[in-house]
Order: sequence, then C-alpha cells, then structure tokens
Amino acid sequence: MSEYVLDHHHEGERERLALMSRLLDPMHRGHVERLGVGPGARTLEVGCGNGSMSAWLARRVAPDGRAVAVDLDLSLVEADEPGLELRQADILAGPVEPGSFDLVTARAVLHHVGDAEAAVANLVASARPGGTVLLIEPDFLPVSVAEPPEVRAFWKGWLAWSREQGIDYFIGRRLPVMLSRLGLREVWVTAETAHYHGGSAWAVYWKQTVVELRARLVASGQLDDRLIEVFLAQCDDPAWWTQTIAFTAAAGQVHGPSHSTHPPDG
Ligand SMILES: C[S@@+](CC[C@H](N)C(=O)[O-])C[C@H]1O[C@@H](n2cnc3c(N)ncnc32)[C@H](O)[C@@H]1O
Repeated sequence: MSEYVLDHHHEGERERLALMSRLLDPMHRGHVERLGVGPGARTLEVGCGNGSMSAWLARRVAPDGRAVAVDLDLSLVEADEPGLELRQADILAGPVEPGSFDLVTARAVLHHVGDAEAAVANLVASARPGGTVLLIEPDFLPVSVAEPPEVRAFWKGWLAWSREQGIDYFIGRRLPVMLSRLGLREVWVTAETAHYHGGSAWAVYWKQTVVELRARLVASGQLDDRLIEVFLAQCDDPAWWTQTIAFTAAAGQVHGPSHSTHPPDG
C-alpha cells in the first residue's frame, strides 16, 4: 500500500488542499476545456485530494457522462456533486476500470508515488482506446535561481529532504517521455509558473507546509532553523516576489479512434 508524506491526518492538510484547488484548478480546467472534454464524457481523476476538480468534471459531463474520483484517502473530499463517484484506491494497485474513460487525469500526485512509471501505466490503461490522459506535475527548476541566496539555500535543503522522502520534485519534465514510451500519440506538453509575493496564497501555502514539517526538516539535518526563519520571513514580505514551481501539463491520446489532444492553435 502506498504512503503519502503529507497524509490527510496532518493538521493543515485540509487547508493546503483548499489552497491548491484555488491556485491550480483554473489551469487544470483550462487544459480540460482545450482538450474538448464535455457533456457525456466519462472522466477519471486519480489523487483527487478534496475533490474540487472532480466535482467540476461531474458538472461538465452532466447529465449523461460519468465522473469518477479516486484517492488513497477520501477523508478530505468536500465535493458532494450529484453523480460524482468516489473510490478509495491505490493507483499502484492497478488500472481503474481498464479501458473505460474518455479522460484520465492526475494532478500533483505522481511526484509522491514510489513507482511513477507504474502509476502512469495504470492511468493510461484506465483510458479507453482513443481516450486522453492529462497529467500535471511540478518541476522545481525555478528555485535554482531563487533570490536571495538564503532562499536558494533553503530550497536546496528542502529538495534534499524531499529526495530522502522519495518525492520527485523534478518529475514534470519526464511526463512527455513517460507518455510517449507507453505509445500515446500526439503528446503535447506545456508548463506554467506562478510568480507570487510574500503574503499571497502561494506564500501562505509554503509557510503552512514548512511550519508543519519544521521539526522533521530540522531533524533530517538538511535544513536548520536559521534558513527556515529567513524563508518564513520572506513569505510575509509583500515586497518579495518569487517563483517556485513550473507545473508541467502533458497530454496524449491512447491508441485508437478519437479526436486530437493538440489545442487548436497548438
Ligand atoms: C498533493 S495532493 C494533490 C491533490 C489534488 N490532486 C490537487 O492537486 O489539489 C496528492 C493526492 O494524491 C493522493 N495519492 C497519493 N498517492 C496515491 C496513490 N498511490 N493512489 C491514489 N492516490 C494517491 C493523496 O492521498 C493526495 O490526496
């Protein structure tokens, strides 16, 4: 059974998921819209968190479509959209209803999964022939140029700790090759980076996360209190602008008859 480092029993996880929905759903919805998923479609979201995207999908595919939401732990799902089907499952255990879905999507999940290649294979196997797989994952490239230097040092320690936890914060750049190797066609990929300032929703997200993990980060020896204090102070400073994650979105079409995954202008 897979384990998720920031599991749902962490005190702030509900609030962090709400922030993720607010910050990332607009981008995710935009990609789904560009892929042309609409009424009547059968959709699957894996690692649904609080279920905000799955609830939106359920509304989008209504009245004749299906929206299934899967997570290791459904305890923080807040969505109660009529017709939304919730399933507790581990994507490493196998595909969800093999060959069934028009759209299979996962966001900010694969970087936490021990065997991401196996997880992607199971996601792909859940899509019907001609169906589309849309993956959105982080790539922490922007932190390599973060300012000031103490913040860059903070991120270096954070990434070292994350690697020890089995988290791959550079998985974004590997998504297209993973989809291509599985035989998906018309793979397209794009990345989007939020620039934010101290006091903004992203800064609040990172502050909460780091405060909650602080004892573990320090105990690991990868970060010390001084660097953590510098980072937290920057997160409160409205004059500090920064960027952390490039979110890579990659989509491809499973072999079989269907529409293009390329946006009309792509
Ligand atoms: C960082 S949260 C992201 C939640 C949501 N997708 C979002 O972007 O707001 C990762 C989610 O993936 C789930 N998860 C992690 N490993 C999983 C697995 N092997 N199978 C299914 N869900 C998993 C976690 O329980 C958690 O809800």
